[in-house]
Amino acid sequence: MTVESVRPPVSGASRLPAPPLAGGGVPGLGHGWKLVRDPLGFLSQLRDHGDLVRLKLGPKTVYAVTSPGLVGSLLTSPDYQIGGPLWETLDVLLGKGVATSNGARHRRQRQVIQPSFRLDAIPGYTQVMAEEARAFAERWKPGETFDVTREAFRIGVRVTARCFLRIGPIDDLAERLSAALTTVFGGMYRRMILSFGPFYRLPLPSHREFDRALAELHRLADEVIAERRASKEKPDDLLTALLEAKDENGETVNEQEVHDQVIAILTPGTETVGSQLVWILQLLTEHPEHADRLSEEVQTVVGDRPITFGDLRNLTHTNNVITEALRIQPAVWILTRQALAETELGGYRIPAGADIIYSPFAIQRDPRSYERHAEFDPDRWHPDRSKDVPKYAMSPFSVGNRKCPADHFSMAELAIILAAVVPKWRFEYPPGTDITPHAGITLRPRRLLLRAVPR
Ligand code: HEM
Repeated sequence: MTVESVRPPVSGASRLPAPPLAGGGVPGLGHGWKLVRDPLGFLSQLRDHGDLVRLKLGPKTVYAVTSPGLVGSLLTSPDYQIGGPLWETLDVLLGKGVATSNGARHRRQRQVIQPSFRLDAIPGYTQVMAEEARAFAERWKPGETFDVTREAFRIGVRVTARCFLRIGPIDDLAERLSAALTTVFGGMYRRMILSFGPFYRLPLPSHREFDRALAELHRLADEVIAERRASKEKPDDLLTALLEAKDENGETVNEQEVHDQVIAILTPGTETVGSQLVWILQLLTEHPEHADRLSEEVQTVVGDRPITFGDLRNLTHTNNVITEALRIQPAVWILTRQALAETELGGYRIPAGADIIYSPFAIQRDPRSYERHAEFDPDRWHPDRSKDVPKYAMSPFSVGNRKCPADHFSMAELAIILAAVVPKWRFEYPPGTDITPHAGITLRPRRLLLRAVPR
């Protein structure tokens, strides 16, 4: 993990009290077993112990923020950086691209990618999104059972790879990427939670499979870069920006950094959209009345012509469905930060180097912020009702300098996919489906199978 700089301690912080210890710890194990056994339930009840609480994870103390206001203070303060045990594992596996770097390097890398994600860049991606959305909708067959997680993940990879790296529509590279990333994400979470380095070097089949997929992912990134260099083309896209980026000395960045940046776009840009799409389809299966309204809206706004970027702003209910799914089942359910220096948060002392966690899932389901907090109610995002939502109580893309650069991109992608799928199909649960949330790198149902019935 790259360190921003040594920041001076915040004056007076050492005299402040430590936050209260959350109840329910077990001698020796602390709260770790609860976090592993029922992470969502455990993180959600922490608010009953205070806005900022201490947790014991084995011998380690971790600080948990539980109120929207303090989440805002944490995310917008220069006293914290990306860090902590989860990120250290990511750093080793994925390198030092924009998602894992800190300080000056992060600012520089972020400036390079930012133009490709600006709102005015999104219309340039809608055609690819619409093509992939149509293909996704056509893969369903009447009455057939469909493994939604696999297919949602696949479209997430394809759209990101095609939009940002200009991989062609029929490229088998997108398929190989999708397979490699699926395996890498599966194994990475275990490595983040249980970071026993030597254990993962044991020659078990699952470890070999993970190592092979990770090597394939890095090889594919190199192939994409080599192909672009060999073509001598410089289209106005993110890959060109990455290849031409300059470092602090004005020199073109080295090959390793270009590689790490490609990985840093592909990894956060695929599993998140995939998992969110899975939840949206699950929620629309549970709430067919919202699927019907969404379908009618698409018929009225778009009809039978190809969807355009301009249509998206008129798809109000579609956007509200996506926003409400992001609230109630956020793909990114836990985030961490690390204190750069001794500091103050919510009137308490935070020591230098402390790990801090918060859960968007818990914050976005807080009954103090939302009426009928556990209910899926897309209409709560009508402007006359959403104005009452407290600041930072709804930040599925985070805020501050690490805010997801792809918020507009993801909202457009999800709306375009729904506009292609929902007017064609209704969904039912076949036997074997298990919608219990599984908190891995992202939050997903354990196994979402759906049967499609033509509308
Ligand atoms: C529904 C979809 C998505 C959700 C919910 C989501 C959520 C997030 C969140 C919460 C963060 C902030 C992490 C933190 O504060 O520590 C983040 C960062 C990031 N996301 Fe996304 N994301 C999504 C889609 C994407 C896509 C499609 C891409 C790229 C194509 C992407 C690229 C990134 C990158 C590069 C970062 C790191 C930014 C930085 O550290 O400066 N995300 N995302």
